[in-house]
Amino acid sequence: MPDTFIPRAVLVTGGAGFIGSNFINHFMAGNPGCRVVNLDCLTYAGNLENLKGVENNPAYRFVRGDICDAALVAKLLAEEKIDTVVHFAAESHVDRSITGPEIFVRTNVLGTQVLLEESRRHREAGAVPAFRYLQVSTDEVYGSLGSTGYFTEETPLAPNSPYSASKAGGDLLVRAYHETYGFPTLNTRCSNNYGPYHFPEKLIPLMIHNIIARKPLPVYGDGLNVRDWLHVKDHSAAIETVLKQGRPGATYNIGGNNEWKNIDIVNLVCDLLDMKLERAPGENRRLITFVKDRPGHDRRYAIDASKIKGELGWEPSYTFERGIAETIDWYLANQEWVREVTSGAYRDYYEKQYGER
Ligand code: NAD
Ligand code: TYD
Repeated sequence: MPDTFIPRAVLVTGGAGFIGSNFINHFMAGNPGCRVVNLDCLTYAGNLENLKGVENNPAYRFVRGDICDAALVAKLLAEEKIDTVVHFAAESHVDRSITGPEIFVRTNVLGTQVLLEESRRHREAGAVPAFRYLQVSTDEVYGSLGSTGYFTEETPLAPNSPYSASKAGGDLLVRAYHETYGFPTLNTRCSNNYGPYHFPEKLIPLMIHNIIARKPLPVYGDGLNVRDWLHVKDHSAAIETVLKQGRPGATYNIGGNNEWKNIDIVNLVCDLLDMKLERAPGENRRLITFVKDRPGHDRRYAIDASKIKGELGWEPSYTFERGIAETIDWYLANQEWVREVTSGAYRDYYEKQYGER
């Protein structure tokens, strides 16, 4: 195992989103001496309410801004003496990428290049003794599996959606910055996450949200597509492990060995919510509606996570049974959060907290 890297000042991009906010909450709890600067432009998916637990911590700073703004990125790197970048900011929803791919290329490809370039210059200027750049990516860059096999770090990139193509573009730039400039990059590729603060356009929170509201539950195609689900807190812990112990230049797959057919997961969420909402057994399943399939819908994702386990000793801690029950309980207890993110009212929160830009 390489020497442990100790981050002192971290620039987290996209820290107001689902995984970024879970990561900041996790990381700040375990690394009290480390400064965290959260750069997020607050798209529809960014929500500062997710960060209430850290907003008054003097080690935390929020900056509303765009990762494509090179001057802003350079200024933050220099003034905060940043030695670590953890890059979450992205357009992240496959269905949106099908109807509007342009913003995905801007944010996920150009935004990554701006961060890489400004970080490289900052490091080469000798501002900090050691540096790490961690690119948070997805197993979707590998494309689709048939009914057998797993994605390893050696699986060729074969993205099928504009979202996954734009993430693969970012990953290739990360590779190039390591090969060309010797820039100390790390690249993680994780399977589907679930847990608190997940925007209710993605499968699991959308189903919970619609069941509570007794709305139809849209299942794409035959419902037999397979996804490999990992709790977002396990993903956060894996990123911290890779940041501190990972070999610069390396890629690590992250997954929980937890494959589910979409229809099975929807049935499970229906049944758990029958009990929790005291509805008759089977009542929620009647809301399931099979709808037209997503174009280019990847059939199956499944991660081989043996490299991160073997090299760095990371393993998931959540069983799916516990994780999904806790997630449903979180949504039931946080209906106000759901109402706000779905109404857009949360955008006012920034103005209330921080005033005009
Ligand atoms: P999200 O959509 O919930 O959050 C994205 C965040 O990025 C938002 O806060 C948004 O405001 C911010 N952002 C977008 N464009 C920006 C820009 N130009 N400048 C600054 N901030 C910007 O996404 P997520 O689900 O939390 O995913 C985070 C990262 O993890 C992404 O890179 C995604 O590709 C990757 N990932 C996600 C999953 C998953 O299951 N959600 C799985 C593997 C990898
Ligand atoms: P999603 O949460 O969008 O994640 P991704 O496409 O990045 O894997 O979708 C997860 C799976 O659920 C995917 O196979 C598409 C399917 N799905 C539905 O069947 N209905 C829905 O309403 C949504 C949002 C997704």
